[in-house]
Amino acid sequence: MKKIAFYDVKPYDREWFDRLNGGRYELEYFESKLNAKTAALSAGCEGAVAFVNDDIDAACIRELTRAGVRVLAMRSAGYSNVDMKAAFDSRLTVVRVPAYSPYAVAEFTMGLLLCLNRKIHKSYIRTRDFNFSLNGLTGFDLHGKTVGVIGGGRIGRVFMGICRGFGMEVLAYDPFPGEVEGVRFVSLDELYQSSDVISLHCPLTEDTFHLLDKKAFSAMKEGVIILNTSRGALIDSAALLEALNAGKVGGAGLDVYEEEADLFFEDRAGTLIRDDLLALLVTRPNVILTSHQAFLTQEALKNIAGTTLSNLDEYFAGGPLTNEICYRCKGAETSPDCRKTRKERCFPPRAEGQ
Ligand code: NAI
Repeated sequence: MKKIAFYDVKPYDREWFDRLNGGRYELEYFESKLNAKTAALSAGCEGAVAFVNDDIDAACIRELTRAGVRVLAMRSAGYSNVDMKAAFDSRLTVVRVPAYSPYAVAEFTMGLLLCLNRKIHKSYIRTRDFNFSLNGLTGFDLHGKTVGVIGGGRIGRVFMGICRGFGMEVLAYDPFPGEVEGVRFVSLDELYQSSDVISLHCPLTEDTFHLLDKKAFSAMKEGVIILNTSRGALIDSAALLEALNAGKVGGAGLDVYEEEADLFFEDRAGTLIRDDLLALLVTRPNVILTSHQAFLTQEALKNIAGTTLSNLDEYFAGGPLTNEICYRCKGAETSPDCRKTRKERCFPPRAEGQ
């Protein structure tokens, strides 16, 4: 039976993988994150399964392939933590789960907005202490306000629909704008100038790194609410803190943080947190920070496990791969020369033991 190394595993991940695996693979679970040091744990495994905060750089990829791994199955949509060029050069096939529940993330984003705007996080703490005062809890109606959605893909579109349900005017920016009923695609400048709430739903790439920086914040409306359930490094956190301190940004709902990799998903309550920027952000009453949990619904976990296992099945069956990504095509067919348009893999698979 083929062995698969499974990194950064939590009990909630295991539940669905164990249920859906049905004995087809021997799953070796490791609590450690995947990085250059832990890659050797994969010895004897033909596949490795990894997640968003694993550090899959060139050294890690070298160690993985040395250990015998031929396919890296990301159990996430994003793959900005994978050195795709190194994977391509090592002929390590990379697959992912492009969509598992856009509803999970979009609904959580609205949850952050409602909590932040109506200060539910504060009332929860007050009433537990029998403090029934309403002072300082005033919010604003979402109805009639303008939300700017950056990234009009799967999650962005579901979020747009939710916002429309609240009676908000929806603006969107995407370099590849599409048609969405009731939504106006505009330039980033117009979105910054007109939005009361700005929500990020684009991938982290070289182009989007620190998309929201000092200059972007200065172009926004006074008191704008910022939501980020995509990737931490889309926001320059130091610039966000400055904008919060100046009152330019009225609140931030953050499910991701640019330096989250060594912190999130674990209980650090007894640890001295040396990240001063994070420490300052979490003390702000108008910041809600969650630990990359927007994806965490039963439906999403089931879909992640199901798609990851079928990605592995496809790989070992030797046919075309539905969810393959490589550094040339980034998961999409971009040119007539792309092998995917010919229903082939991005590159021929490594032979067993190669
Ligand atoms: P998607 O691929 O369906 O959509 C992304 C959209 O962003 C595309 O329409 C693309 O054209 C657009 N885009 C690309 N470059 C852009 C730019 N420079 N400016 C604005 N838009 C740009 O991806 P999906 O499924 O909607 O996911 C969005 C992001 O959500 C992912 O990249 C991932 O980082 C994040 N995510 C976060 C989760 C969490 O638990 N917090 C869970 C799942 C995804």
